[in-house]
Amino acid sequence: TLLAGNTLAADVYPNKPVTLVVPFAAGGPTDAVARLIAVPMGKELGQTVIVENTVGAGGTIAATRVARSAPDGYMIFIHHMGMATAPALYKKLNFDPMKDFEYIGQVVDVPMVLLGRKNFPPNNFKELEAYIKANKDKVTLANAGPGAVSQLCGLLFMSREGVELTTVPYKGTGPALTDLLGGQVDLLCDQTTQTVPYIKDGLVKAYGVTTPKRLPALPNIPTLDEQGLKGFEVKVWHGMYVSKGTPPAVVNKINKALNVALNDPEVKARLAESNIEIVPPAKRTPKGLQDHLDAEINKWGPVIRKAGAYAD
Ligand code: MLT
Repeated sequence: TLLAGNTLAADVYPNKPVTLVVPFAAGGPTDAVARLIAVPMGKELGQTVIVENTVGAGGTIAATRVARSAPDGYMIFIHHMGMATAPALYKKLNFDPMKDFEYIGQVVDVPMVLLGRKNFPPNNFKELEAYIKANKDKVTLANAGPGAVSQLCGLLFMSREGVELTTVPYKGTGPALTDLLGGQVDLLCDQTTQTVPYIKDGLVKAYGVTTPKRLPALPNIPTLDEQGLKGFEVKVWHGMYVSKGTPPAVVNKINKALNVALNDPEVKARLAESNIEIVPPAKRTPKGLQDHLDAEINKWGPVIRKAGAYAD
C-alpha cells in the first residue's frame, strides 16, 4: 500500500549518497555554508552529502533542477532569499517556490558589506559618495546576477544614491570577490561569510555594513545606516528544500540532520567568526521556512515590480 511504501522509504532513507545543490559558484558564500553543514548532516544521515554547484541565472537554474528531481530526498537544495525575489525578477520562471517544493527549514542569516577594491580611490563612505557622483560612468559594480543578494544590495544602494552604475555579473560572488581582489572591478556588496579576513587584512576596502547595528566581527566598519542611508538593511536568509511530494518521514530525517549540523560546536564557531546568525529552532522547521518564504515573496514582489528591475 501507499502507507507501507512511505514507511519503507523513510526506513531505508538514505541508502546512498545524498546531493546538496548549491545555486552559485564554488568558493562563494552559499557554497561555504553548504560545505560546512554537509559534513555533520552526512554524519547524522549515515551517508555522504555531496555538494554540487548548479550555477547560472541567479540561482533559478538550480531551483528548476531540484523542483524537477525525484521526490525521494536524494537531492536537497540550499538557497537564500533569491528564492523569494526570483518570481518578480524573472518574467519566465520554470518553478514555483510555493508549489514545487517541500520545506526542510530556515538555516542562517548573513549580513553583507559594501566592498571596494584595495586601490579604489575613495577611503570611506563619504568619499565613495563623492567619487561616484563625479565618476558614475566609469565605476563598476559586481554582482551574481538577477536573484542574487549582491544584485539586490547593489540595487538598493544605487536607488538610495540616485545613480546607475555599470554592473558586472558573475556566477557567484566567489568569482566576483576574486576579481575585486585582483582589481578588475571597483565595488561588490557581498556576504560576510568569506570577506571578514580580507577586510581585516586590508586587501579590500569596506565602506559599510548592511545591518542596523555594527558587527562584532568588524567593530570598526560603520553601518550604511549610520552614514546617511537611514533604514538601509539587507540580511540574507537561507532555506533548505526538497522537491514536492517527498514523504514527510524523509523530510523529518533531513530536518533533524540540519538541526544536528547547526547545533554542532565547530559549525557554530565557524559561523560566529563571520557574524553568521543561526536562526532560532522555531524557524528551522518546514513551517518556519514556508511562512517566511511566503511573507518574503509578498514583501519583495511589489518593490521589484515597481522598480521595474526585470531580468532578461
Ligand atoms: C553566492 O553564493 O555566490 C552568493 O550567495 C551570490 C549572491 O547572491 O550574491
